[in-house]
Formats: sequence, structure tokens, C-alpha cells
Amino acid sequence: PNRGECPFGGTRIGGAIGSAPTLEHWWPNRLKVELLHRDPIEANPLGKDFDYAEAFKTLDLDAVKADIKAFLTTSVEWWPSDYGNYGPQMIRMAWHSAGTYRRADGRGGAGQAMQRFAPINSWWDNGNVDKSRRLLWPIKQKYGAALSWADLIVLAGNCSLEIMDFPTFGFAGGRVDAWEPDTAIYWGPEGWNGKKPGETAPGPMQGHPNQMVTRTLRWEGEPTDAHYDLENPLAASHQALIYVDPEGPGGNGVPLDSARDIRTTFSRMAMNDEETVALIAGGHAFGKSHGMVSPGKIGPAPEGAPIEAMGMGWQNPEGTGFAEYTMTNGIEGSWTPNPTKWDNDYLINLFKFEWEQTKSPAGAIQWKPKNPDAPTTPDAHREGVEHPLMMMTSDLALKEDPEYRKVCEKFLNDFDAFTDAFARAWFKLVHRDMGPKSRYLGPEVPDEDLLWQDPIPALDHEVVDEIDIASLKSQILGSGLTVSELVSVAWSAASTHRVSDKRGGANGGRIALEPQKSWDVNNPARVAKVLSTLEGLQKGFNDLNAGSKKISMADLVVLAGSAAIERAAKDAGVDVTVPFTPGRMDTTQENTDIEQFDWLKPVSDGFRNYHREDIVYNVPPEQMFLDRAALLSLTAPEWTALVGGLRVLDTNWDGSRHGVFTDRPGVLTNDFFTNLTSMSMEWRKTDEDGMSFTLNDRKSGAVMFTATRCDLIFGANAQLRQIAEVYAANDGHVRLVKDFVAAWTKVMMLDRFDLSSSSQG
Ligand code: HEM
Repeated sequence: PNRGECPFGGTRIGGAIGSAPTLEHWWPNRLKVELLHRDPIEANPLGKDFDYAEAFKTLDLDAVKADIKAFLTTSVEWWPSDYGNYGPQMIRMAWHSAGTYRRADGRGGAGQAMQRFAPINSWWDNGNVDKSRRLLWPIKQKYGAALSWADLIVLAGNCSLEIMDFPTFGFAGGRVDAWEPDTAIYWGPEGWNGKKPGETAPGPMQGHPNQMVTRTLRWEGEPTDAHYDLENPLAASHQALIYVDPEGPGGNGVPLDSARDIRTTFSRMAMNDEETVALIAGGHAFGKSHGMVSPGKIGPAPEGAPIEAMGMGWQNPEGTGFAEYTMTNGIEGSWTPNPTKWDNDYLINLFKFEWEQTKSPAGAIQWKPKNPDAPTTPDAHREGVEHPLMMMTSDLALKEDPEYRKVCEKFLNDFDAFTDAFARAWFKLVHRDMGPKSRYLGPEVPDEDLLWQDPIPALDHEVVDEIDIASLKSQILGSGLTVSELVSVAWSAASTHRVSDKRGGANGGRIALEPQKSWDVNNPARVAKVLSTLEGLQKGFNDLNAGSKKISMADLVVLAGSAAIERAAKDAGVDVTVPFTPGRMDTTQENTDIEQFDWLKPVSDGFRNYHREDIVYNVPPEQMFLDRAALLSLTAPEWTALVGGLRVLDTNWDGSRHGVFTDRPGVLTNDFFTNLTSMSMEWRKTDEDGMSFTLNDRKSGAVMFTATRCDLIFGANAQLRQIAEVYAANDGHVRLVKDFVAAWTKVMMLDRFDLSSSSQG
């Protein structure tokens, strides 16, 4: 066809799948329900029967590591290794893979090798990381499906540290690769280059469901002296960066400003000052920065590169475009005289010398020693050529910030303490998002339990059988607790789970511990009441069985929810059994990091109609509700069934009647849906912002029910309404009960990684 003529007919450019204008352009603010159906099994060439954990177990990890290590000290023609060692660039690749993690929603991290996909594969900060992955392709090819990219990336980082004499703390496999970009993550505003952070214009992702909270909000305990606010849940100062601008905020070259950004972003990643210093000083003991060519000359990032570049980007037209011409970040040079060996030279030189600002050949701000006698560092490719040492503005931050400085001084005086701190912080960095230790695979899993793993003891007793379950259920139902109370507490326990970093959930019995038992969203008085009754039943059961057979509180809370749902269904005329799988264990308060656990607390939770008025949110409540559904890995029908059920079971956090569209609360009817879809009612907003509503009889005008946005969205949104209609139809009630029970059971079981390797996903 002629230029401008559509090959599929018509005369306009475009029309192929994905070309503008799309739905996104017409209705940018619609609730993107499709975000719940990402990375479908249909996109996965390994298929639904493939069990990664089983495949990983067939590997001889020592042999894999030997292959990786042998490769690391070679050099290939299309991307020669600096100093004859690919180790440093592999460490950077692994760090960037893990460094996207943020504690507020548990997203990011090394877990699914999202670094392979846009936008992360094309972030400026990931410059030339495409080369590192491609260098590993022969290893990946050799081991195929038994070694995921996500595991290989981390393992290559560990092997690199080890060949440069660093003693790693351990390695666990078990990361399952994704097969498509993750469109459900809000990464922050675009455009950092040359703009002051506070000035960046909101990018096209504004209004994203997990762009939760506005810039003006600070979390309790967060540093308050930063010169600008970073949106939650972000853990990088800008989209396209892993953490911070190495040249200082907005390229201002001011180390103390950089320190503030580093503290904000690293603590968003759940790293304290000591861990932060250990990671930066540890990482920069190795390798070099690359800045030989002006950024303006560099070709497009991988996602925008020409087809013949085969997925690699940042083509560099200068010289060979690699080796001594390499241009990655723009800063040029190495931090130490021996960049392929673990030693304390980074800190020694950082403190021994005064540093003065200079510019790299690419024009970036960096620092060199003032003292002409300072040691030099060899050229990475040319024999006999030496260069001055280099520090970045973000490196000097460690020396100038008083708190970081204390940590540096400790490490300067005690190299072993530094080595241990870096080993532990690195292990945490690259395993942070894997969830409980029961998901860890392979011979190098450390024995020691670490607090950030939210430890739960291994099962140490016989569990309840069918007869015990039946008897406990009848005791629970006879205890005087209501369906609403029992269902609420089970939901509060289990729904903390988030599939992003696999933390939370009913296992561990943390609903009985701080901070969870005191969260207002859980209604502490209700939790205390239910738990004290259940404790009585638990004691009775355990005493009777004299210690050999036991029921944990974690199990009992879930069982209580099951019993209540069965009763509620029966009262609605449907006989149903809620599946129950015992084996949960109770953990202890000492094994619960209160501060880090508090990040699992929802800031807004449509499941319980919880929306705090003292917080300024960026997006409406239904967006955050969608985000919570996504973090529980619910499909749209599961989400809808759960809400319809929870509402009629009367489980709002504060006991309010919003969305309880029934005159028989506590009975598992489909009344929520029949009323929601009824045309004999109309909805009126009761406040200016449209946050709460009344449902009025169209004829009499009488107020029948009240509702929030998180209720009405199931009738208003086109996609959700289609599902609501299924449950509202005359043949919808039994279907609802069945679907509610299935979705409920899924949530209760989300964290049961202890059960089988097939739950490793
Ligand atoms: C290299 C920045 C933290 C490990 C680099 C480069 C920059 C940078 C700009 C040069 C990239 C290039 O042009 O090739 C930062 C900043 C950090 C940080 C701003 C935080 C404030 C870390 C951490 C680690 C790490 C936590 C690992 C634990 C490395 C390594 C290299 C490197 C090994 C050398 C890569 C090579 O030789 O190719 N870093 N980094 N960095 N970074 Fe970092």
C-alpha cells in the first residue's frame, strides 16, 4: 500500500491492534478492570501444568554456578568485559532487578524478572543491562525452563560476588518468570532529566490504581526534612530510575540533598541506614561507571530500538560503541584501584581524600580526589592506562550525612562487620519479595531465620481431622458469636496477604499480634471479642487432646469463618461446605517486625468500606479497591462475588450499613446484586464529592439503603455490571454462593506455600 494507506483497508494510518485512538484515549479514567487479568496462562509457553519448583529441583546448582563463574571471566567480541570480568555488570543487573521493590504495596523486586519487559527494560537507569542479560543467554539456553530468568539474574549476581572474593550469605531459587509487562504498577511521573523532582509533570499514568496517595502525605515515621515529597508507594525519585539521580536531585551535585533522597528511597525499600550504606559501599567496591559519549548521541532504549537490534537498545555510534567507548549512565570511572576484588578501598578512599567536582566526558557531574598523590585505577580495556578515582554525588552523600557517616566509620574500622552487613543486606535485597521461607528452593538456603521473612514456625503437631472439624464448627456456631463477627475476623486475618511480595495472610496467626490486632480497619474491639471466645475453644480442644493433636489460632480463625459462611448459606436455603485445610501455625510477637508489618495495613479497603478521611488520595476509592483486589490476585468475577457476599454478611469495618442492601444481614443471599441492579431504585449522592449515596425508592422517594463508591461501582462500571447481573438474575443465587465460597477459599489459602510446590507461583 501507499504511504499513509492502511494495509487493512481505509485510508488512515493506524487501525492495527494497539494503534491510537484506543479505549485508553477516549476514556482514560474508566476503571481498568482488565488489570485483574494480567499475565494469563495463555501467555505462558510453559503451560499450566509446568511446575517450576519441580523443574528447579532437577538442577545441579553447583554445576550451574560453575558454568556461570567460568563465563564471567571470559570476554565476547560484541560486548567485551571490563577488566576481563563480567562480574560487576552482573551485580548491577541483579541489584537493579531487585531494587524496584517498594514496601508500601510489595510490588517490584527480582521475583518475576520484570526487568525483561517495558517500561523497566528501557529505563535510562537500566542502560546496558540488556547486554548483561543477553550475555547470559547461553546459560539460560542450556538450562531452559528449569532455571527462570528471575533466578538466573540473582544467581549471576551472587556468582559474581563470589568470584571476586565476597562471601555471600546464601541463595534461594523459586522465582517464577512473568510473560508480559506488568501494566498494574504505577511507577511515578515521567521525565526526570534536567527537571527538579518537584516540578515533574504528572505522566500519562496519573490516575493509576496504585498511585495511591498524594504527594503531600507522609507516612508516620518517615523523614520529614526532605525538600520534596515522593508519592507513595514509589521507591524511586523518578520513573526510569531505580533509586535516585547519581548526580544529586535534579542533577544539582549536592551530596547532602542526595543523602535525603537516598534515605527516602532506600527506606521505601525497607532498608535502614546501616543496610543502605552496606549496599551502596558494598556494590561500588566493584566495577565502574561508563560515560564516554554524550547522551544525545545514544540510540533509543530497547523498547524503541529498530527491529534489527533484536531487543537491544542504546546503540552507541562512537568508535566500536563498547569497551573504552561505552556510554551507560554518563559518569565515567571507577571507585577503587582494584574493581574486581572485594576490599575496603571504597570507604578508605572516600574518607581519606577531599573530593572536588568535575565532569565526565559525557558531561555528567562527578568527583575526583583533590590530592594528586591519590591512587589511580586502571583502564578497563587498555593496558598501562590509568585514571583518577571517581565518586558520584550519591557516594559523597554517605560521607557527608551524619548518620550515614557513623555507619561508614564503623565499617572502616571493622571490615568483617562491613562484609557481614553487606552479605545480609544483599541477601535481603534479592530475596525480599519471595515471601515466606517455605518458598525458598535449593541447597544454599540459609538456616537462620531473618525477621524480614516474617517467620512462622514449621508444623510440629498432628492436625485436626474431619470429626474434630465438625465438632469445632458446631462449638463455634454455638459460642454466641455472630456470622458477621466470625467472617470479619477471618477476612481481617487472611486478606492482609498480597501476591506482590507474598507477605501477610492468615498463617502465623498474626491477627492476634501487634500491629494487626490494633489496626482500625480490623475493628480491634471485634477482633478481641472473637479471639477471646476462640481461645477458650482452642484451649478446650488442645487440653482434651493432651498436646499431641492441636489446633492453632491461625487455623481456628479460618475455620470459624468457614463455619459462619456455611451457616449463612444454609439460612439462605443453600447447603454448602466450605473447604478447610488445617496446618497453619501461630508465630510470636518477637517474630513480627511491627514497623515493617504495618506496611500491610490498607490505607483504603473497599472490601470493608474503609476509607480514611484524614488522607488525601490521588485516585478515587474504587481505584484503590481494584488495587486491593489485584494484590489478592482476584479475577473480576471473584472480586464481585466476594463483595456481594461480604456486604450481605454485614462485615463493614465500623459496622456501618453502607452497601448492606438486604433486610436479612448475616444471610448469604444475592440481595446485594438484586438491589444494586434494580431499576425501581435511584441513587443520589449525599455529599459534594460524590463519596456517599442513598438508594431511594423511585416512587416514594424513601431512602432504602446507603452506599459508597465501592458499592455502586459494581452497578456503574460496564464490565462489573455484567457480572453483577449474573448474580442478580433469578438463577444467580446458587451460583453466587458457590462462587463466593470458591473465592473466599482462595483468599484463605493464598499464603499456604507450606502445602505443595505447585503453590509456588
Ligand atoms: C554502577 C549509581 C547503589 C552496584 C553504577 C553506576 C551508577 C550507579 C550511575 C554506573 C552505571 C554505568 O554507567 O555503567 C548508583 C546509585 C546508587 C547505587 C545512585 C544508590 C544511591 C548501588 C547498589 C549496588 C550497586 C546498592 C549493589 C549492591 C553497582 C555496581 C556497578 C554500579 C556493581 C558497576 C557496574 C559495572 O561495572 O558495569 N551505580 N548505584 N550500586 N553500581 Fe551502583
